[in-house]
Amino acid sequence: MINRLVSCTLAVVLHGLLSALLVQPGNAFVPALVPPASSKATPLFAVANPTATAARDFVFQGHKTYSEVYEPTAVIPKKKKCHVILVHGFGCGTLYWRETIQLFQQSGYTVHALDLLGQGKSAKPGRADGINYSIRLWAQQVDDYARANIPPSSSIVVMGNSLGSMVALTAATGDQTNNDDTNDGFIRQSIGGVGMYNCGVGMNSRNVLREFSGVQKVIFTAIFDLLDALVFGNLPLLTYVLDNVVTQELLKNALTNLYQYATDVDERVNDVLVDSFYYPAKDSGSPQALSQIYTNDPGDTPMEVYERHSKFLLDRQVPIHLVWGDQDPVTPLAGSVGTFFQAMANESDNNISMDLVTAGHIPFDEVPESNELMLKWLDNLNDGTTTTSNGGNFLGNVKLPFFLL
Ligand SMILES: *[C@@H]1O[C@H](CO)[C@@H](O)[C@H](O)[C@H]1NC(C)=O
Ligand SMILES: *[C@@H]1O[C@H](CO)[C@@H](O)[C@H](O)[C@H]1NC(C)=O
Ligand SMILES: *[C@@H]1O[C@H](CO)[C@@H](O)[C@H](O)[C@H]1NC(C)=O
Repeated sequence: MINRLVSCTLAVVLHGLLSALLVQPGNAFVPALVPPASSKATPLFAVANPTATAARDFVFQGHKTYSEVYEPTAVIPKKKKCHVILVHGFGCGTLYWRETIQLFQQSGYTVHALDLLGQGKSAKPGRADGINYSIRLWAQQVDDYARANIPPSSSIVVMGNSLGSMVALTAATGDQTNNDDTNDGFIRQSIGGVGMYNCGVGMNSRNVLREFSGVQKVIFTAIFDLLDALVFGNLPLLTYVLDNVVTQELLKNALTNLYQYATDVDERVNDVLVDSFYYPAKDSGSPQALSQIYTNDPGDTPMEVYERHSKFLLDRQVPIHLVWGDQDPVTPLAGSVGTFFQAMANESDNNISMDLVTAGHIPFDEVPESNELMLKWLDNLNDGTTTTSNGGNFLGNVKLPFFLL
């Protein structure tokens, strides 16, 4: 349970350190600070290192946000012109999408990777600057970005990881705006599909509490309150930890732990990956952003967002595809979100499909072949074919060993 309280890598590190202070070691989820005996298998693939066609500072509500654009490196005849927007998870940034970007770019897609406000290389304003972080705020950022940078006639596919999957679903449905015919979400008008690599339950894990009742709920609520009071609401402590405890070595070890199913973990967890987590953590606005993300209202669950817009999604036949690392302790397949989408994918009366992969929370960088599964779905939408890949399709819900792909 404790490991479900956390989201992405930086949070994993912080949470591990801090909960170790509060919870009995042994029960607590403490990332081992010693890397496991890593596999020395020959890497199957060189680690991707795509070069952005453009890097932009997009100004959102007066604050600079960082984004990268990757034009297709191949022209695929007859393929629809489609823009893919990638939205990262908590504490992450554009860099960890390197494998996804390279594959999609080579497959004829224009790829946009955004750093959410308060994270990555984007500005990290706080409440004094009028910013309250929420899934809806980020969805508005993604929508404003798309309106400013993507031609109105294009098809847009929004894809996310973890918390970013929630932002993707929210932006795709225009949920940050309203839910009627006056919804003027730019992406909603041009939505071609939604992709999710694992999906979180809210901006922070407080929504996990909704899965519990009675005594358990009381206990876990108390733990959350305690953590908020002692840790996540404690700016001096967060500042101290981010400044002095979070080192490149610590992050490297945490990432190595997260990438348990990588065949070439030493190659994958390279310096550029570590630095993409390290430097944002050192920004002066990070403690405040992190504190808000942990303690603000988590917002609605993805199930609630889906239900609210199910008519729109079904009428417009907006396909949703999930590629889920089923060894993920952070957003487990057996949790409420995984169960919901897996059950939906098992039904044939919607446009939701899911592939499971043997990987953790960041399947697309840990096990790059995960991206092939997403690409297959993406290509089906854009190659002029109308194949639906709902459960029942040979890939839907079937766990393929990667060497068979
Ligand atoms: C941010 O949230 C606080 C506390 O809920 C509220 O008082 C404030 O008005 C909010 N600010 C903005 C800009 O929404
Ligand atoms: C969906 O179908 C798969 C394969 O038949 C099954 O293993 C799984 O339990 C089902 N999941 C849900 C949530 O219905
Ligand atoms: C969406 O689902 C409907 C109903 O199952 C199906 O007829 C249609 O082909 C699907 N469309 C796409 C784009 O998958």
